[in-house]
Amino acid sequence: MKVLGLAGSPRWGGNTDLLLDEVMKGAASRGAEVKTIILNDLKITPCQHCDACRKAGRCRIEDDMQMVYRELERADRLVLASPVQFMGPTAQMKAMIDRCQALWARKYVLKMPPLGNSRERKGLFVSVGGLKLANLFEPSLAIVKTLFKVIDITYAGALLFPGIDEKGAIAKHPDALRQAFLAGQKLVTD
Ligand SMILES: Cc1cc2nc3c(=O)[nH]c(=O)nc-3n(C[C@H](O)[C@H](O)[C@H](O)COP(=O)(O)O)c2cc1C
Repeated sequence: MKVLGLAGSPRWGGNTDLLLDEVMKGAASRGAEVKTIILNDLKITPCQHCDACRKAGRCRIEDDMQMVYRELERADRLVLASPVQFMGPTAQMKAMIDRCQALWARKYVLKMPPLGNSRERKGLFVSVGGLKLANLFEPSLAIVKTLFKVIDITYAGALLFPGIDEKGAIAKHPDALRQAFLAGQKLVTD
């Protein structure tokens, strides 16, 4: 069981990073092989809508996203972690998601499995936002669920914490990190 974590925050050691770490520790505690990629460290060019993927079934842009595609193909479980920025995921996360247009083309144009094989995959979303708004996570959830659907990943739930703003504030939230650890365990055992 391989678990891939994609960290979307620009803030190293910030709130979503702390939560993602706990999810991955929980998964590892149940024997999973875990790997976290920090998107902010990568060079991922935004999708250019060149449509080359519609013929080739792959993206022609040779940047760090090529490594992310390979990791997505290998993973049995995917954990996306991004804070809310302007009511959506971070630009780092969104650039990665938009580049999955190549996987969309693979599936819907070329009628191939988007991730190269059709084993069962599940995905979890982790997010925090500074405000306490009723619809705070709705735009991000719509985007993440769309990605999961396109790349044949079953949505396995989300850990969502509003009202978390200062760096590290999540550690003071009663039982948030514990919830994250347990969600990591559940993700690999269910
Ligand atoms: C550019 C930017 C935009 C933000 N937009 C929102 C927003 O729309 N709604 C919100 O509740 N918080 C917003 N925030 C606050 C972050 O979601 C919050 O500080 C969060 O705890 C950061 O998580 P991190 O430590 O994982 O990066 C924004 C922060 C930044 C830097």
